[in-house]
Amino acid sequence: MERLKVAIIGCGNVSSVHFAATAQNLAAELIAACDTKPERAKAMGEKYGIPYFTDYNEVLELGPDVIHICTPHYNHSEIAIAAAQKGIHVLTEKPMSITLYEADNMIRAARENNVKLGVIFQNRYNRASLAVKEAVESGQLGRIKGARMFVTWHRPDEYYSQSDWKGTWEGEGGGVLIDQAIHTMDLMQWIVGEIDSLEASMANRTHHIIDVEDVAEAVIRFKNGAIGSLYACNYYTYDADVLLEVHGELGTARIEKDHAVIRIAGQPERKVFPEDDYEVIGKDYWGVSHKIQIDEFYRDVLENRPVDIDGVEGRKALEFVRAIYYSATTGEPVQFPFQEPMGFTPPSLTR
Ligand SMILES: NC(=O)c1ccc[n+]([C@@H]2O[C@H](COP(=O)([O-])OP(=O)(O)OC[C@H]3O[C@@H](n4cnc5c(N)ncnc54)[C@H](O)[C@@H]3O)[C@@H](O)[C@H]2O)c1
Repeated sequence: MERLKVAIIGCGNVSSVHFAATAQNLAAELIAACDTKPERAKAMGEKYGIPYFTDYNEVLELGPDVIHICTPHYNHSEIAIAAAQKGIHVLTEKPMSITLYEADNMIRAARENNVKLGVIFQNRYNRASLAVKEAVESGQLGRIKGARMFVTWHRPDEYYSQSDWKGTWEGEGGGVLIDQAIHTMDLMQWIVGEIDSLEASMANRTHHIIDVEDVAEAVIRFKNGAIGSLYACNYYTYDADVLLEVHGELGTARIEKDHAVIRIAGQPERKVFPEDDYEVIGKDYWGVSHKIQIDEFYRDVLENRPVDIDGVEGRKALEFVRAIYYSATTGEPVQFPFQEPMGFTPPSLTR
């Protein structure tokens, strides 16, 4: 069988999941690790017995079939576009970029160079997410009236002070929304449907060493008439289970962390759990489905199939995030599709 030559750019926290998934995939062959911090590139290179580099351009010159981008948010678009222009398929971590302008450039570069662009939103592949989506799409819940999501996690000041890119509009592109809540926002719009408009507020209430939001709330109006409520903060006392609930005329379907509870009038309650034997690589709250999405992406490349979460699909959660930043900054509701003003960056929220 043809094996894909795979290189991983960025050897920080999340890369451990990408290296492990790729090393376990018989259709893939790891050919390079890359990080601007030499000790990180070396550690992954030695662990997997592969050459390691500090400049991603040298990696692109090796001619990999696929690169994974596991770098900070601010350089996803630069690396993705450089790879696409060399005919290399790209699987990037979320968010695909900081701005919608960058996202559009990535989508265009992939299209023009006939390469696949995938965006990691691994939680779409969780059994719980699939069960709730199915309950909505099959009509079991009846007309969808509302949805609510809560992400209340814990990120101490050290989380920011120990990073050279988090906590700024330029480096991370935001705070709790673009980094932590974006997974649940992606599920909300994927399950409930297209957003029509939203109105939001945000603040930095406890992390005074950073510029970006550590709390945000929004009311979301969906095109199907449902109303959504969003609350996210990262100053809670622990990483509490994420909640996403969909309320239909006939019942509710709720995702709590990695399991779902579906309650439909006149039917027994249904619970959906992850498979018993799943292996958690990395942090527990990252979920268990990175490997599924990475395996799928390789199959898409090998069989030239469309990618489930391609650039257009991955952009939707970013549009949701950016629309909240815009609404919270201007105090105005935002209509979708959101036309982001060129160069829009929210001001520092530090008091
Ligand atoms: N899907 C998930 O559940 C999940 C979980 C954690 C992180 N992430 C995402 O993964 C990405 C990385 O996050 P992280 O927590 O691993 O960050 P990190 O800071 O731990 O690692 C990023 C690494 O990229 C390196 N880097 C920066 N610029 C580079 C360049 N030009 N070339 C090569 N290497 C470069 C840095 O030196 C660093 O080692 C982010 O987009 C983040 O949002 C996703």
